[in-house]
Amino acid sequence: MTDLTTSYMGLKLRNPLVVASSSLTGHLAGVKQAADAGAGAIVLKSLFEEQLAAETAAMGKHAAYAGHTEAAEYLQGYGMELGPNDYLSLVRDAVKAVDIPIIASLNCFSRNSWSEYAKKIAAAGAAAIELNIGLLPNRSGQQGRAIEEHYYQILHEIKLQVDIPVALKIGPYFSSLAEVADHLGRDLVEAPPFTVGWCGPGETPAKICWRKADALVLFNRFYQLDIDIDNLELIAGNPLSAPNEINLSLRWIALLYKRIESDLAATTGIHDGRDAIKQLLAGATVVQLCSTLMINGMDQIGQIAKELESWMQTHNFSRIDQFRGLLSQARSKHPENFERLQYIKLFVGLE
Ligand SMILES: Cc1cc2nc3c(=O)[nH]c(=O)nc-3n(C[C@H](O)[C@H](O)[C@H](O)COP(=O)(O)O)c2cc1C
Repeated sequence: MTDLTTSYMGLKLRNPLVVASSSLTGHLAGVKQAADAGAGAIVLKSLFEEQLAAETAAMGKHAAYAGHTEAAEYLQGYGMELGPNDYLSLVRDAVKAVDIPIIASLNCFSRNSWSEYAKKIAAAGAAAIELNIGLLPNRSGQQGRAIEEHYYQILHEIKLQVDIPVALKIGPYFSSLAEVADHLGRDLVEAPPFTVGWCGPGETPAKICWRKADALVLFNRFYQLDIDIDNLELIAGNPLSAPNEINLSLRWIALLYKRIESDLAATTGIHDGRDAIKQLLAGATVVQLCSTLMINGMDQIGQIAKELESWMQTHNFSRIDQFRGLLSQARSKHPENFERLQYIKLFVGLE
């Protein structure tokens, strides 16, 4: 018997196939469809910080958030009109309607704005929260360390508010991703060496002052910019990924497996069963699916599950943990192969 069950952030999943946050999961019908199609868990469409801010300020001020990589497109282009109260209703209704974990998603870029709302999400029954943080530092003077600390602070502040697991979905654009993953992916039990003011009120440096993300979701595929050379204007790039976009997250999942304590969720470029198997072999706890479901329909979840099952049978694996991370750097006899960035003539054989 093939057992696809998986534990993700402590949640029991019937399989590791998670429907990613997107317009597919921004309404109850989509949530039910995903569950009926066999998903292991569902990440709801994100509530954007702008939507929360819109309670007190007009929505027309989105442009003020220069450097935020997604909001404009996702808000305008994909009809995400849910306000914060509607979003809580969606969480409640989704939790009632299906018997798989519902993960709420918050797209944030500033600190201090989410505390109360995160508590409401937990009270509405979400099994976990996925924080989607996407900043595009694009001006000289924005120091890398300060930007990293901003990510840590957002995570920290939400972790102080809720007891449910919190995943962090990030992009790959850090100068030292391993260091960032290390900070996000471990509880910190001593005073952090580089800043004062890390610890929350009432905490002392001697105890845990920094809680890890329960999962890292690698990597978000941000809004893509393109140029229309006929009309001389900026346009949106293709919102859907291609299968060959899997390799960046594949490498980093393989590098980070067993090096940090957070679970690892793979996203971007996972289109079929083979892609899902690759990510599990690299060390992913779960894979998240979006573009492939938009292209092929929700039934693709069942198809991927079938491919996974049949591959496991062929290779005599009855459980996923028998092969998860088998091809990670931590378990490799040739760890240097994971770090190779340059093509070598002899190695590639192309020239
Ligand atoms: C139309 C569309 C809307 C999306 N909306 C969100 C969102 O609200 N929040 C989020 O975290 N990711 C969002 N994403 C990103 C997906 O969750 C996913 O990470 C990304 O598409 C890469 O996965 P894929 O290659 O399977 O498409 C969106 C993607 C698309 C195509």
